[in-house]
Amino acid sequence: SFSRKLTGKTVLITAGPTYEAIDPVRFIGNHSSGKMGFSLAEEAAKRGARVILISGPTALKPEHSNIDIHRVTSAKEMANQVFNYYETCDFAIASAAVADYAPEVTADEKIKKKEDHLTLNLVKNPDILKAMGERKKNQILVGFALETQNEVENAKEKLNKKNLDLIVLNSLREAGAGFGHDTNKVKIITQNSEKSFGLKSKKEVARDILNCIEDEFLK
Ligand code: PMT
Repeated sequence: SFSRKLTGKTVLITAGPTYEAIDPVRFIGNHSSGKMGFSLAEEAAKRGARVILISGPTALKPEHSNIDIHRVTSAKEMANQVFNYYETCDFAIASAAVADYAPEVTADEKIKKKEDHLTLNLVKNPDILKAMGERKKNQILVGFALETQNEVENAKEKLNKKNLDLIVLNSLREAGAGFGHDTNKVKIITQNSEKSFGLKSKKEVARDILNCIEDEFLK
């Protein structure tokens, strides 16, 4: 038997990478597979939530009928969909790996091979999670941090700067954690607690995250 504490709640989840177009055939992207976000969506739906899943490009399909999926490509599209639904949600969990920069211009035609060097100008994308923190009313806001150094310090800084209630830290220095794998190893950090978990499947990690959220914020 599992918790049904999320019955009647709306949970917004972002998942996957974003692709930032360079031209009609090329993009800047990252290695996110969407597995972490889709696992969270399935687990929240099983616990009774209505789930709004906003996902960048991934091959995954949601299974549970309580999941409404909205597929996007770029960070700007992800931001637009997030803010279509943000006001209506009780919990928001940002597990997407959003590109921090996008090409300043997207070429209309395929860029031809010419010189030995090619320079792309990049401009900053919107920080979706930071904007969610700024617009927060009654939502519980959960972010992720993917770090390669000073992990806990950087995660705590994101918790505060982005006005989050909880942050899930995963480190690329840990074997089996982060992008692509079926497993992850996380630390869950709030203003007054810090819990470390072992290496487990992303399904189990999703359970740990939702257990923490329920324990902290649904007493
Ligand atoms: O998809 P998988 O292959 O299963 O991999 C899972 C994962 C490694 C992608 C996931 O567990 C994870 O760590 N997601 C966050 C990755 C990330 O971009 O971390 P970050 O530290 O750069 O960003 C911090 C937070 O701000 C994240 O919640 C991110 O969604 C958000 N963000 C970042 C940049 C931006 N422009 N907008 C954002 O909203």
